[in-house]
Amino acid sequence: MPAPTILVVDDEQLIRWSLNERLSQAGYQVVEADTVKSAIERHAEGVDLVLLDYRLPDGDGLSVLKAIKAADPDTLVIMLTAVSTVDTAVEAMKQGAFHFANKPFNLDEIALLVEKALETTRLRREVKALRASQSLPYSVDRIVGNSRAIADVKALLAKVAASPASTVLLTGESGTGKDLAAKVLHYQSARATHPFMNITCSALAETILESELFGHERGAFTDARQQKRGLFESADGGTVFLDEIGEMAPALQAKLLRFLEEKTFKRVGGVADIRVDVRVIAATNRDLEDEVKKRRFREDLYYRLNVLPIVLPPLRARTEDIPLLVRYFVDAFNQEFRKKVRGVSDEAMRRLQTYGWPGNIRELRNAVERAMLLVDGTELTADQFPIVSASARLTEGVALPATGIDLEQLERSLVIQALERSGWNQSRAATLLGLNRDQIRYRIEKFKLQKPAAS
Ligand SMILES: Nc1ncnc2c1ncn2[C@@H]1O[C@H](COP(=O)(O)OP(=O)(O)O)[C@@H](O)[C@H]1O
Ligand SMILES: [Mg+2]
Repeated sequence: MPAPTILVVDDEQLIRWSLNERLSQAGYQVVEADTVKSAIERHAEGVDLVLLDYRLPDGDGLSVLKAIKAADPDTLVIMLTAVSTVDTAVEAMKQGAFHFANKPFNLDEIALLVEKALETTRLRREVKALRASQSLPYSVDRIVGNSRAIADVKALLAKVAASPASTVLLTGESGTGKDLAAKVLHYQSARATHPFMNITCSALAETILESELFGHERGAFTDARQQKRGLFESADGGTVFLDEIGEMAPALQAKLLRFLEEKTFKRVGGVADIRVDVRVIAATNRDLEDEVKKRRFREDLYYRLNVLPIVLPPLRARTEDIPLLVRYFVDAFNQEFRKKVRGVSDEAMRRLQTYGWPGNIRELRNAVERAMLLVDGTELTADQFPIVSASARLTEGVALPATGIDLEQLERSLVIQALERSGWNQSRAATLLGLNRDQIRYRIEKFKLQKPAAS
């Protein structure tokens, strides 16, 4: 790292000289200016910190301060003055001065002040860089794929991220990228510099989830020895991601709804209304409409969440993205495992594209990871994808009997078997058959299939 550059602005040559000596000794790069005009010019050349006299021949230090702060709000300015009145001090602080030092000053004190100020700058820059590097992996481009289905989702995510509109509902099967979409929404929004908090509703008992979300007052329940802030408070200004919202207990659903509508809540055991500004993103792999019909999910909360629904398509509905995703994961694991795999064989790719991927992108990622661990050469072959190959072998292995078959009858029977095996969950049955939801619905209608009434 180059030595920090300090700009000394004073019209008295002796003061500039003594500061220059002392700060150079401490290892800093020092540049000087003696007028408002030259100070602004020197600053434009790039400095980390400014020691600024209040009285200058062509104006006052405050105008320099204003100009510097307008050009780069991160530059720290320490004002030096002999005429320290409360008014000038207040005004300088308002304009963003970091500190004030009275003339005559002690050079060691100034050196110490400079060191502290630069430490502040360094920390600020680190935080900024960290935030930038955190948000970078979560740009919309992090969502790999250019099929129509995913392109629509990406465009919608970009739009919603840019808008202040609040609640978002992400739906899609497990492994379709709901977590990823939530992070993209946060890190691409104006909320990116505030916290992203995430909680899985199914992982916690109802009362614990409640106090995690809303916090609690001391003594609210037996174990509440301390007051505790909840997720909504901690995430103020940012985003709260409620994963597996379909699993939330009804009483808590009611509290969440109240919060979404009123933007205020009470801590558990508390009386004060607390107001926060958070965007809530909820996600579920359940069919919430169906859950509402079965009275397991509150209808009013469903409508409140469903204002902005975003549906992540299953991988089998966008098989054209598979080569891109495989490429992406191969590159990622090449880095992680220090390998030099160039890609997958044509045969392996063909099978990867015909497999149904019930676990969606998560399953594809795991399959590639496993293959990358096993491979010795520079190409992944079908052998390294056992699940995929097993299902391919079966499909290819059905031999047409000499007597022929009734294809309609066979299809009907397979559809019924898939429905029975999945408990009449249409999307899971579709996965078993390598179909999408429309395709299975079409067949259910064609064969006039009906779920048997529960006996
Ligand atoms: N479109 C995509 N491009 C790249 N990686 C993806 C994509 N969608 C999902 N992933 C990755 O797949 C895995 C599962 O995604 P995740 O967001 O956890 O799914 P969900 O929350 O829907 O179960 C994660 O490792 C995620 O980074
Ligand atoms: Mg998830």
